[in-house]
Amino acid sequence: MDPLTQYLEQHQEHFLRQLQDTLRIPSVSAQPQHKGDVRACAEHLVQHLTRIGLTRAEVVDTAGHPVVYGEWLGAPGAPTALIYGHYDVQPVEPLELWKTPPFEPVIADGKLIARGAADDKGQVHMHLAAIEAHLAVNGRLPINVKLVIEGEEEVGSEHLEQFLRSRRAGLDADVIVVSDTSMLGPDQPALTIALRGIVYTQIEVTGPARDLHSGQFGGAVQNPANALATIIAGLKDADGRITVPGMYDRVRELSAADRASMAGIPFDERDFLHESGAPEAFGEKGYSTLERISVRPTLDVNGIWGGYIGEGSKTVLPSFAAAKVSMRLVPDQDPEQIFQAFRDHVLRLAPPGVTVKVGDHHNAAPFLTSPDHPMIRAAERALKRAWPKPPAMLREGGSIPVMATFQKTHGLPSILMGFGLHDDQVHAPNEKFSLSSFHGGTRSCAYLYEELARPAAG
Ligand code: BES
Ligand code: ZN
Repeated sequence: MDPLTQYLEQHQEHFLRQLQDTLRIPSVSAQPQHKGDVRACAEHLVQHLTRIGLTRAEVVDTAGHPVVYGEWLGAPGAPTALIYGHYDVQPVEPLELWKTPPFEPVIADGKLIARGAADDKGQVHMHLAAIEAHLAVNGRLPINVKLVIEGEEEVGSEHLEQFLRSRRAGLDADVIVVSDTSMLGPDQPALTIALRGIVYTQIEVTGPARDLHSGQFGGAVQNPANALATIIAGLKDADGRITVPGMYDRVRELSAADRASMAGIPFDERDFLHESGAPEAFGEKGYSTLERISVRPTLDVNGIWGGYIGEGSKTVLPSFAAAKVSMRLVPDQDPEQIFQAFRDHVLRLAPPGVTVKVGDHHNAAPFLTSPDHPMIRAAERALKRAWPKPPAMLREGGSIPVMATFQKTHGLPSILMGFGLHDDQVHAPNEKFSLSSFHGGTRSCAYLYEELARPAAG
């Protein structure tokens, strides 16, 4: 076994303890009461980066949550990787469904359980462990690295573009490296070549000036909750197609060859559906489950409220109802255009007798990269060294808003090398990261830096 691999094996516990320290900080970006915790997490990471030997590490303020920046540039002539990740996490509610407290990491059955374990603190720490190992074993890294670890990914990365633009010269690189995606199975690594974009909206329906007695007024005025239901019912047809005019105009249809190659991906649909707990598959007619979750757009209600939802019954006609509706976008859909078409469509669907407002929370463009780049070949070689099976090339359904931004600000090849699994319960209670993912991912990152430095990767 080579000294680097040996070092990684011998320090597994040490790296896990470091990750647990970061997981204890409740850096929930969406909730104002955690603003201080988000900053504390950034400061904690900067101290950590300094300790493991990066030559520069700083908390950089933005108009939102801070960005953590770090670098080691001691390999002149070798390529520079801009490694991106995020230290913010999703809210933990509903808290009562957690078997152990979300910010008190626990290791059991080969899994590390905590909010952020897989998404994305665990995957950020794979890189930090790989960097630490190289510096400890060799006193240097095979490549130069610039780390951008942001605190707003889970709320749409709204202030990151400004950070990237204002520091563009200092952020020059040869390749972007991101570990915030999934594997295909516990021993089947993957490289992700596409991500969906997103448009996240809120529909607000107002009717009477106050809640009304449903006997006194029911039947005489429009009910905002009924009106909202009418609107939502009109957004998709029975075949699962979205009815927003122009929705599919710019969707790239797959060629027969693309579809055949997707059908060849060893995706375990039964296991995937079992994991979801849903009684059966449902989606756009004419497409497979894998296609529905990767290359087709979606429209989903994320939350809906209005009227009386307490115990028992209350005869009331609510004055207000609302829903959060998001759409996942695929190449070449444009978020701005889709938002406008959606807003116009919602206003058209609204029945008379209510006032409807459509707001925009955040949006991000879809991302697609070519699998045929020497940098991707380097990632393939790294994964082949670390795992029993060669990597699958995946198009994934989630969104990482900065990926499309990087295409504008940097225009570089991007390696999306992630180690999450379908059953990680990301964004949900009891999030976990498998230790096999963490350790195998750390090895993969350490090998990736070596492979990126090889002339073949040039
Ligand atoms: N790690 C995910 C993105 C992801 C999920 C990639 C699944 C591949 C598969 C990321 O942290 C995330 O959840 N992003 C948000 C972005 C949104 C809030 C703009 C998402 O996709 O919901
Ligand atoms: Zn993430």
